[in-house]
Amino acid sequence: MHTMTQYEMKQAVARAARDFVAAHLPAGAILGVGTGSTANCFIDEIAVLKNHLGGTVASSEATRQRLEGHGIRVLDLNDVEHIGIYVDGADEIDGSLCMIKGGGGALTREKIVAAVADTFVCICDTSKRVATLGHFPLPVEVIPMAHAYVARQLGQLGGVPKLREGFITDNGNLILDVHGLHIDQPTALESRIDGITGVVSNGLFARRGADVLLLATSSTVEVMKR
Ligand code: 5RP
Repeated sequence: MHTMTQYEMKQAVARAARDFVAAHLPAGAILGVGTGSTANCFIDEIAVLKNHLGGTVASSEATRQRLEGHGIRVLDLNDVEHIGIYVDGADEIDGSLCMIKGGGGALTREKIVAAVADTFVCICDTSKRVATLGHFPLPVEVIPMAHAYVARQLGQLGGVPKLREGFITDNGNLILDVHGLHIDQPTALESRIDGITGVVSNGLFARRGADVLLLATSSTVEVMKR
């Protein structure tokens, strides 16, 4: 039996997500599209669905450009009332389908598009599956003038924040990557970090986790539901 490489796993899960969208998203409905290398594989797969889709909403400028490169219609979120399905990757996902996202720095727009969507479909390979979130540094988007203050506050929560060097988000803000957190209560921590003045959003997707996980293993794609 052929054992898939990590890139082949991303392609396999992207095809499974394309089939999920074709089966579950009504013709003419809007699809939300995530950001990252797995989401990029998904974008390349859905070019064949462009006449089925009413349009897409992109979670980053990079995703917008890739969608438009395939001739797929991209809509402004403010012109859309309803998103049927949102498909995106994750940096970590636990057994309750809570996630850490934002490795690519698109967490705030991802969280906004996910908030509007009926169904969040997470696509990833087994390397992202964890028992407890926090090994991957938690990204926190901050207003530039507040980054030192927010870093001190995050330090008080037990984390070690590091400013992501040379990186500015699509919203013109900065990212603090918080190392060393052992996150056994993701929903509470998500709210707590959002409550720090100067934080725009954080990469915990626990209050609104995934509804469906398509998980590529070296031999198949498993489906899990919340
Ligand atoms: C970007 C994200 C991505 O979903 C996450 O970083 C996973 O990316 P990849 O599929 O490249 O591993 O949250 O902000």
